[in-house]
Order: sequence, then C-alpha cells, then structure tokens
Amino acid sequence: MATKILLIGSGAREHAMGHALARSARVKLYIWAGNMNPGLELLASEMRLGKMDDIVGMVEWAQELRVEFVVVGPELPLAVGLVDALRMVGISAVGPSQAAAQLESSKAFARELLNEAGIDVCPAFLRCRSEAEVRAWVREWGGEFVVKPDGLTGGKGVRVQGDHFATSEAGVEYALQCLASDGQVLLEEKLVGQEFSLMSFTDGHTLVHMPVVQDNKRLLPGDKGPNTGGMGSVSDSTHTLPFLGVHDLLDARATNERVVAALRDRGVVYKGVLYGNYIATRDGVKLIEYNARLGDPEAMNVMTLLTSDFVKLCQGIVHGNLGEVDVRFAHKATVCKYVVPDGYPDSPVKDVRIYPHVSDSVDTRVYYASVDSRDEGLFLAGSRAVGVVGIGDTIEEAESLAEVAAGRIEGPVVHREDIGTEELLGKRAEMMREIRKK
Ligand code: AMP
Ligand code: GLY
Repeated sequence: MATKILLIGSGAREHAMGHALARSARVKLYIWAGNMNPGLELLASEMRLGKMDDIVGMVEWAQELRVEFVVVGPELPLAVGLVDALRMVGISAVGPSQAAAQLESSKAFARELLNEAGIDVCPAFLRCRSEAEVRAWVREWGGEFVVKPDGLTGGKGVRVQGDHFATSEAGVEYALQCLASDGQVLLEEKLVGQEFSLMSFTDGHTLVHMPVVQDNKRLLPGDKGPNTGGMGSVSDSTHTLPFLGVHDLLDARATNERVVAALRDRGVVYKGVLYGNYIATRDGVKLIEYNARLGDPEAMNVMTLLTSDFVKLCQGIVHGNLGEVDVRFAHKATVCKYVVPDGYPDSPVKDVRIYPHVSDSVDTRVYYASVDSRDEGLFLAGSRAVGVVGIGDTIEEAESLAEVAAGRIEGPVVHREDIGTEELLGKRAEMMREIRKK
C-alpha cells in the first residue's frame, strides 16, 4: 500500500519538499494549498485550496484521508497549533508543537529561552512595552540598533539602523509605531557580519544538520533596498560556505543542539526542522532568529541536494528514531534565484500571465511559488513567483545555470543577477576578513 502524506503549503519551499517526498517509492501526496501551484498540482493525488490557519479543515481532511503523517511547510499553521490539534486525533506531524514553535512565533521567547539556558549567542536586546522603556534603552545602549515587531512578519517588518533608518530618533519613531500596533516591540544591538542559515532535522533528541545556506534578503543587487522573504540562496559542495570558519559552523551546530535540549529539559519535545539564522561576527557566531520550519528559499537548495529517502527521514522524525535513518546530501553547489513580480514586495503586479520557458533537467530545477495554474495558463499570484536552482561542482557553475534559467521566465518579473556571483561572494569574504582583523 502507498504511504499517504498530507503536505501543508504551496510555495516553492513546499514544491521542493513535495518533489523530495514524491521521489520515494509508493507515496500518495495530498496538498493543502493557498494557491494553485502548478508544480504541486502535478505531484499531488489531490490538492485542496484552504487558509493556512484553518486547523479544523486540515485536521478533518487528514482524518478523512487516513494519512500516515502530515508535513508542515509554513510557519503560520505551526504558530496556531496545527500539530497539537493533529496529535489530539492521533495523527503525527513533521513540525513542532505550538509551544515549541514559539521559537519562531515570538522572537522574545527565543531570546529569553537562550539566555535562561545560558546559550550565549544573543545580541543585547530588550522587549519594550512602553515609550519610556524604548527611550531609556536607546539612550543607554548608545550604539546602532535594530527594531523588530515581535510576531510573525515574513521577514519584512525588521528595520536596521544605517540600512533602513539613519538616526536613533528615526529608529525610536518606528519603534513607537510598532508599540502602538502590537503593544510591544523588540530593540536589539545591530550585528555586523555575514548571515547564514543552519537548518537541522530533529526528532527532539537527535539532530541531523543540513548543508549551510546563505539567503539574500535584500530586494536589489549589491544588498540594497528593503528586506524581502529572500531573493535567492547559495550553498557550496563542502556543505559549509567560503566565508565561514570551521568554528563558526561547529558553534552554530552546537547551538541548534543545545536549544533542542533546553526545550526538552522544559518538557517540550521539538520535532521537525529547526532553522537557525546565524551571523558570523568579529566576536563569533550570534543568532539573528530561529525559525520552526525549512527556510524559503533555502529549502530549494537542501531538498535538491537530498539524495536519501525523504519519507524515511520524516518517519524517523515522527517515530523518534532519526538517529537510525541514513540522511545524505550530494556534494554539489547550488544557487537558487527567485523570480518575483515587478513591484514586489510592496506593490507586486498580479493576475498577469507568465511564460516559463524552462523545466527540470539534470543540473537545473524549477520550483513554483506564488503562481496560479488556470485553464489559460500560469498567472502571477502576488508574491515571489518561481525559484530556479542551478546545480554544479562549484558555486560559479551553479550560478550560471540559475541565471540562464531565471532569464527564461517571460513576463513582468525581475530577479537578482548578482546572487551567487564571484563578485558578490568575494565582497562577502573580504568583509569577513576585514571584520576579523579588527
Ligand atoms: P529577521 O526577521 O529577524 O530574520 O530579520 C530580517 C533581517 O534583518 C535579518 O536577516 C538581518 O539581515 C536583519 N537583522 C535582524 N536582526 C539583526 C541584528 N540584530 N543585527 C543586524 N541585522 C539584523
Ligand atoms: N529565508 C528566510 C525564511 O525562510 O524565513
């Protein structure tokens, strides 16, 4: 009998996950989708459109289908307690419980847990609940800082001094806006260095680390413009990145392991993917934030590289025997570029047709995201549209493949041509050398 799996989500991350699940023998895939993703449509036995916080709808469908387990892609269903609701009706999930997912859904919870557990990777920070607190912290801190709304913002609410606002007064002003709308706001020391994503599969005890990936969050070439959900991402054949020292990688791995252990000590067993967004600084590795799921676009890099059986890996997570599962990633470099609608992220064009003259090959993958499949063709649905991944022996090779593929998507779309180029990676390595010298 085929293994029935329900996958939640319909972005390029879920397309990459669905592709990996479908590579296993005898799988029947069902998708709970926010849009008619053409890639997932091809993989699915059935795709149902629904809201990502409709827990009742998801649980009822999982019961009706009698799935073996549910795989959760995005953060919203985790934050609103889908995994707990499934557990109540005896269905397992690859994804953390609501309590565990607070690592992502509340930045303040994550920082406070790390500090309590003595895991020293946080910048100076304060969760502020009043104007007086905001002003006092900024005065006392004295240096450059970052303003963050506390909840889920899709990576778009954070503003960094020097990048998004110039003076501390302008930062205070934005902090007060956040305070007025959410009742709280997080202020943080600005960290300087190179960011990287270390994602680990875990059954709550064992962690299996994935290749390190670097996301490129800024909209425009040269790391200019506003933060986005991520414009593209890079991984190397070594499974680390050229600008990271061995100690950076080992520290990040140890931090993910210690966080899962700290939660376990508090009675919370974390199952799923733990994604640490780290930054290598002059003073070592620090944590920008945790996410409770695979990254998007990073999932496209790692799921493309996964050579072992993803269904067995998921079974290891839900059954708590991940340590016995063989997990392997190809020693290849990958470069992912997101093709996004003109006007993204603030006023993306929508409902306009695109023509992707590109498909999967041995060294290129195409993952669909916010694209709707209709009878007439494929239409932009308003967010990042298509992720293309080049696979090569070197980052350079992977980059040229991704660039060619991205250029073949016709329509009112743009992508960052500099992601994964030697020039951009060279600048990043140079920045790290400069920082380490000081
Ligand atoms: P987040 O939503 O927390 O991932 O933040 C989005 C982006 O803002 C991060 O990827 C960083 O580029 C930047 N950022 C967040 N926190 C800091 C910090 N403490 N110092 C410097 N940059 C930050
Ligand atoms: N790559 C950013 C995220 O998935 O949150």
